[in-house]
Amino acid sequence: MSVIAVLGLGTMGQGIAVSAAGAGHQVRLLDQPSRQADCVDAVRLRFDRHSTGQPADLRPAADLADAVGPADLVIEAVPESPELKRALFSELHGLVAPDAVIMTNTSSLPLDELVSAVEFPGRFLAAHFFHPAELIPGVEIARTPATDQESVDVALAFLRTLAKEPVEVLPQAGFVANRLQIALFLEALACVAEGVAAPAEIDTIVRTTFGLRLPAYGPFAIADMAGLDVYQSILATLHSQHGERFAPPAELTALLEAGRTGLKSGAGFHTYSAERSTALAAERDDLYRRILAATA
Ligand SMILES: NC(=O)c1ccc[n+]([C@@H]2O[C@H](COP(=O)([O-])OP(=O)(O)OC[C@H]3O[C@@H](n4cnc5c(N)ncnc54)[C@H](O)[C@@H]3O)[C@@H](O)[C@H]2O)c1
Repeated sequence: MSVIAVLGLGTMGQGIAVSAAGAGHQVRLLDQPSRQADCVDAVRLRFDRHSTGQPADLRPAADLADAVGPADLVIEAVPESPELKRALFSELHGLVAPDAVIMTNTSSLPLDELVSAVEFPGRFLAAHFFHPAELIPGVEIARTPATDQESVDVALAFLRTLAKEPVEVLPQAGFVANRLQIALFLEALACVAEGVAAPAEIDTIVRTTFGLRLPAYGPFAIADMAGLDVYQSILATLHSQHGERFAPPAELTALLEAGRTGLKSGAGFHTYSAERSTALAAERDDLYRRILAATA
């Protein structure tokens, strides 16, 4: 088991600490002095709500040196301000073991804005958890050109001990998940602005239609199931009504020209054997039934 220092015990740091403690790691906790006691209480409360009754090795730290000195991994979860994060990384100089891995939980800051403040850039990467971090399995990992492979391997191995499903992406602003979430949000706002539907109605539509699919499938698997030719036709109509942002993309046209219409042709963005196609339909309906039952 590793020693993990969590710096910043707000919404995210608390969940990350609970997740790490639940996996049996020693977790050293640090927030600002005025908030430390309340934040540590909040972590303990969340651990008790979440855990299976196993004791947690949660250690409130006296100061930054005490938090990070023995740490194998340092997880930074202070507010989303480049100045604040850079100042904290500078304070870590001389306190952290040279082979400790430092992970930032930034949601959107480009990593090149942060890495220059880090003492050992080879040991630095992003691990973008989602709220509540003790429950949500996905974590986006992003490295800088300076990050060494061993640090990525250490981070991935650590996240797997937390039963997370890490996926590595490029270190671009917003990574993948926030770009997708925000794109949906902006289109929902455009529908409201055009008077198509009110926010409450749009929430209902998302929850009761394609939102139901999202716990099981991503956009490419869903497009394959719908049929890429169907998507192309929808895009053509949307393009004529709503403008350039709906222009059918070249990637989609190329797949269709290659006969890849999705599940029905055995290939789209993914490929499907005949057995897999048959099994998938049954699997999908069963998943939707279970999701419907769980959310009823
Ligand atoms: N809230 C979310 O849903 C979410 C999701 C994913 C990623 N993130 C990212 O995680 C990071 C933290 O977000 P949050 O929502 O938990 O913020 P938050 O404001 O809830 O918590 C931040 C905590 O950091 C503490 N802090 C500030 N300076 C500190 C310092 N020098 N040392 C130790 N602690 C310090 C604050 O007192 C506060 O308790 C941000 O980068 C954010 O973008 C947030």
